[in-house]
Amino acid sequence: MKQQSAYYELDGVDRATRKANRARRATSPVGRGAAAQSLETASGSSPKLMVDKHRATTRILQTAYPFLAEGGLGADGTYIGSDVFSGGSFVYDPWVLYQDRVITNPNVLLAGVIGSGKSSTAKALITRSLALGHKAYVPCDPKGEWTAVAEAMGGSTIKLGPGLPTRLNPLDAGRQPATVDDDEWDRIVWSRRRALLGTLAESTLGRPLAAIEHTALDLALETACAQTGEPTIPDVVVALFTPDSARADRAGLRSVALVADGREVAHAIRRLVHGDLSGMFDGPSTTEFDPALPMVTLDSSWLSSGGNDQALRLTLACASSWLEAAVADPAGGNRFILYDEGWRVMRDPALLRRMQEQWKLSRAWGVSNILIVHRLSDLAAVGDIGSEARALAEGLLADCSTRIMLRQESDQLARTASLLGLTDVEIATIAKLPKGRALWRLPARSFVVQLVRHAREVALFDTDARM
Ligand SMILES: Nc1ncnc2c1ncn2[C@@H]1O[C@H](COP(=O)(O)OP(=O)(O)O)[C@@H](O)[C@H]1O
Ligand SMILES: [Mg+2]
Repeated sequence: MKQQSAYYELDGVDRATRKANRARRATSPVGRGAAAQSLETASGSSPKLMVDKHRATTRILQTAYPFLAEGGLGADGTYIGSDVFSGGSFVYDPWVLYQDRVITNPNVLLAGVIGSGKSSTAKALITRSLALGHKAYVPCDPKGEWTAVAEAMGGSTIKLGPGLPTRLNPLDAGRQPATVDDDEWDRIVWSRRRALLGTLAESTLGRPLAAIEHTALDLALETACAQTGEPTIPDVVVALFTPDSARADRAGLRSVALVADGREVAHAIRRLVHGDLSGMFDGPSTTEFDPALPMVTLDSSWLSSGGNDQALRLTLACASSWLEAAVADPAGGNRFILYDEGWRVMRDPALLRRMQEQWKLSRAWGVSNILIVHRLSDLAAVGDIGSEARALAEGLLADCSTRIMLRQESDQLARTASLLGLTDVEIATIAKLPKGRALWRLPARSFVVQLVRHAREVALFDTDARM
């Protein structure tokens, strides 16, 4: 909506009366205050209440009286609930708003205290958007609360955890999009596999890889790919421990030295084969990702029940690499990728780097990433000021044009306000939000929206029942 500016005079006194009052104020010994208290008009007829005049442009008034008479975001999109201040319907679609240049990217950050309605808001947005032909993938669901939702929507859930029968090969090539030729596809698959192995190694080691370790990993992946068309993680581990000497020679390296150089990386990745994550990512996939389904979720509640966030992060890295093959197809339509309880996976620079790459590509791929955290300080908690992790996490926030703030703890308000540039009125609003009501903050616009749910949604989205 184009902002128009006009003058408004907020008083109920006619021009003649104002003129007379001015004259009286000028001659009155007590001046303006006394005149303003006077109940008599210039003509001396009926008494009138006199209010001091306030004159401002609409530009100023929108700051003085935020939320009043907002025109809404239009009707093109998914119904969320009612706009608390205008009483109208609130409708949202990140792709429509991106096209209309209301937002600069389709990514969403959702924050609020436990039980404030973060997951419910995301579930409403996603399930209702399916009717518009959008799809949704949930690679991070540590509580397993999206399984019932996916089932009800005709989607599927992949359950991963130690002892469960499902196995994913994160090095799967995936389906080749019709628009990509064979050479380019080979390159894409190679770089995806290589990036995943790097992330897994860095994440387990807790440090960036040295140049020589990158070389060892490159050669091991080459060897594994040459030996079998569809390499698995154990193939790469074997190739790291016993490098192919001909290949090492060609690269000008001695295979004995290569074993030593790649030793730590080999042990780090071995964790997925023989360690606590064995049986999940160490063989051919037992299930296939069907990009045609409206919704696919990954239930990692078996894995995260022990609070093992490191295992959760490695699983997310593997699973999202596996999903990426489908997501990277620009012809795949608009898709939401949701990270519920996202703060649990955000302590890891290697994973954050991957997420940031996906965030940056969101527009090209037609993807809207939704990240759910408790509070914005979760983003600061990933590392010290100046650290890479911190910069990456704050970059994610900057790459989320839509920020949905549910109720925040009072000690979080100042920080939230400074990070998001909220006004005093907006801060006072988010301090008191009841369940399911949120401040939707878009660049230059904000709305307070009450989520409205159908009785069937209430039952489907309920997380209290499981407590
Ligand atoms: N708009 C709402 N009105 C009333 N109750 C709600 C509303 N939204 C969510 N709830 C309830 O609050 C509980 C917690 O919601 P949930 O979305 O799981 O919170 P969070 O993900 O923030 O922890 C759920 O049982 C849900 O049914
Ligand atoms: Mg939740």
